Amino acid sequence: MDPNISTLRQKLADAGQSHLLQFWNELSPEEQAELTQELEGMDFQEINGFFKNAMQTSNSSKQGKMDCRMEPVPREVLGSVTRDRESVKDWELTGLQCISKNKVAVLLLAGGQGTRLGVSYPKGMYDIGLPSHKTLFQIQAERILKLQQLVEQSHKTKCCIPWYIMTSGRTMKSTKDFFSKHNYFGLDKNSVVFFQQGMLPAMDYNCKIILESKGKPSMAPDGNGGLYRALGNQGILDDMERRGIESIHVYCVDNILVKVADPAFVGFCVQKGADCGAKVVEKTNPTEAVGVVCKVDGRYQVVEYSEITLATAEKRSADGRLMFNAANMANHFFSFSFLRDIVQKYEPQLQHHVAQKKIPYVDAQGQLIKPEKPNGIKMEKFVFDIFQFAKTFVVYEVLREDEFSPLKNADTQDGKDTPTTARHALMSLHHRWVLNAGGHFIDENGRRVPAIPRDGAAGSVTDDGKRNLKDGTDLPIKCEISPLVSYGGEGLEELVKGKEFQPTLTIDKEGVHQLVKNGV
Ligand code: UTP
Repeated sequence: MDPNISTLRQKLADAGQSHLLQFWNELSPEEQAELTQELEGMDFQEINGFFKNAMQTSNSSKQGKMDCRMEPVPREVLGSVTRDRESVKDWELTGLQCISKNKVAVLLLAGGQGTRLGVSYPKGMYDIGLPSHKTLFQIQAERILKLQQLVEQSHKTKCCIPWYIMTSGRTMKSTKDFFSKHNYFGLDKNSVVFFQQGMLPAMDYNCKIILESKGKPSMAPDGNGGLYRALGNQGILDDMERRGIESIHVYCVDNILVKVADPAFVGFCVQKGADCGAKVVEKTNPTEAVGVVCKVDGRYQVVEYSEITLATAEKRSADGRLMFNAANMANHFFSFSFLRDIVQKYEPQLQHHVAQKKIPYVDAQGQLIKPEKPNGIKMEKFVFDIFQFAKTFVVYEVLREDEFSPLKNADTQDGKDTPTTARHALMSLHHRWVLNAGGHFIDENGRRVPAIPRDGAAGSVTDDGKRNLKDGTDLPIKCEISPLVSYGGEGLEELVKGKEFQPTLTIDKEGVHQLVKNGV
């Protein structure tokens, strides 16, 4: 017998995972080689330890709700684009200053599998059906490019916002190929840095790794909190240090409205001396299934809707808002030194969360089974698990309709967080930009479309976070403005002021175009 395989057999036996080789004799030499390579790369004792700890934490958290340990975010750590309107400009100037000194980087979490959306390629490559057919990656790249240009104009200096993109073993190649094919969307190739997060096996409830085929364990990325381990072992922290990065804006690939490297958010966090900041939107409906940022036993964390009682979710402050209303949108600020401490000191303390899943597996007879109820777990860390280690934590509240519309699910009638809701959210924002810059829309009869849409129209958000799309009359004005023209609504007056447009209106670097056609 190959000495390698006997060492591996022993390693598996020691860890109670011998079943992984049960079909060994049925595999071709190539399959045997692949399986050996995959298993040799795994630390089974560590994986078993992760399982034990994750199950323990999950069981103990089931024993009681969080309610009596929670406190809302105190006003003094909160910045709000609506309640602190007079300070926003100043925060923005600070942020732009930091960008002009090349101290700000953005970090994109793009290692997810997008199972709910149901496409086989990375979510960032998804075309949500805008007039331009731009993908999420392209929109984000162009926002970075535009912000660099704005800073270069205002500060008369060349600047660069490095873009770190976390992928997984499953998405790395296609993501890289996509960027290369599109010439990095005009960004400097050397400032777009890809790195890969880790993978973990799915386990059954008896701590056995699940086989998805006779020669392959079922593997999944280790959650967006896999970021911290990957930053260390892929040399990304060193790269940031070499470039002199001091502030990092971390965000998720699926938010079509994301203000990448948002200068106001960065400036707010920097002015407050924060090591960690969370951008949030207001939760307005007690039953919306969203995590809220709050303090638990004196430390900041995100508490999921399922972890609190309805009575707590329904509590209101004196101003009538929900008491726990800081809805997490996975959009964060970290100082470089905080991130370094997390990677070097605290990462091993982070526990995996348990997600119960229906995981296809091969049974002892080698038959592929697709279970109808959960048969095992996936283990994931979350990007926000590190809030607890912050010394100065701040929260920045923005408007949902301006900044948050995630793409999670495939299109269905009345669906939440779908390509349609994302597309409508972007077009509705751009519609408002045009109005704010003094432009007007007219319908096919030449009549002005009212500037303030009727209740429930034009992509407005209902209490449970859905956008109203009930019938054709609720469709938004079709309007798309290229990020290369405007990052956040600025610079549009000279193009639209005092003018009337019939949708579809698109504004790009080549100019203003009106395409009159049906269907959104
Ligand atoms: P989600 O939790 O919504 O997961 O990720 P997802 O993969 O996009 O979609 P589903 O759950 O499979 O349908 C939120 C963000 O975190 C990233 C995703 O790419 C997305 O930007 N993420 C998620 C990672 O980077 N790594 C992971 O392991 C999981």
